[in-house]
Amino acid sequence: MTAFDEAEFWRARYARREPSGAQLGHEHAFIVREVLRRAARHASILDVGCGDGTLAHKYLKGLDQRWTGWDVSPDAIQTLRRRGLGEAVETDITQPRNVGTADLVVCFNVLYHLPTEAKVRQVLANIANACSKTAMILTWNTRVLERGPLGKQGKLAKHCFLWPLWTPPGHEVVEEQTIPGSPHKTLLVTRPTDD
Ligand SMILES: C[S@@+](CC[C@H](N)C(=O)[O-])C[C@H]1O[C@@H](n2cnc3c(N)ncnc32)[C@H](O)[C@@H]1O
Repeated sequence: MTAFDEAEFWRARYARREPSGAQLGHEHAFIVREVLRRAARHASILDVGCGDGTLAHKYLKGLDQRWTGWDVSPDAIQTLRRRGLGEAVETDITQPRNVGTADLVVCFNVLYHLPTEAKVRQVLANIANACSKTAMILTWNTRVLERGPLGKQGKLAKHCFLWPLWTPPGHEVVEEQTIPGSPHKTLLVTRPTDD
């Protein structure tokens, strides 16, 4: 069996102009509110796996923070550049990256798409390297899912069950919120322990 190549999957998906999943209205409202709640204390934002900026476009309205987005899809990056949101970098976030820092690093709806635990850990290490103050990670909350139909049918990727480990190395969780109306997703807010 060929291993799932998430980078190729997303490149092809944006090339076909398929939505990234970023069209979830209720989820967006929640994330935008939570980013805005913190943005004032942060001069720069890095969005890891930012897609075409549909979500960033919403939370950046009215903010003048320096914004950088990382994504593997050339089409998504092209759209970001057209939108002029900030610096759009085409990169594979599952490879070691240790460049620059941002006060606030966000990673929404990305980790559970990665096919191996090693890739999840590398992305978390990249987030830790880049983050100087706060990280916000939106994950599938498998503590709920494993009790629901998907979990019972055994249809969850094995590494989804590592959810409690989805904290960047050297960080501590300072907040954990379930999305209202979407109990299968949790927002983790973390910060470096030596902060
Ligand atoms: C479900 S979309 C989420 C987009 C956006 N963060 C949001 O919440 O609306 C997942 C994103 O992760 C990106 N992604 C997946 N694997 C990646 C990888 N290995 N390197 C860089 N980006 C990746 C995809 O291209 C896609 O834009």
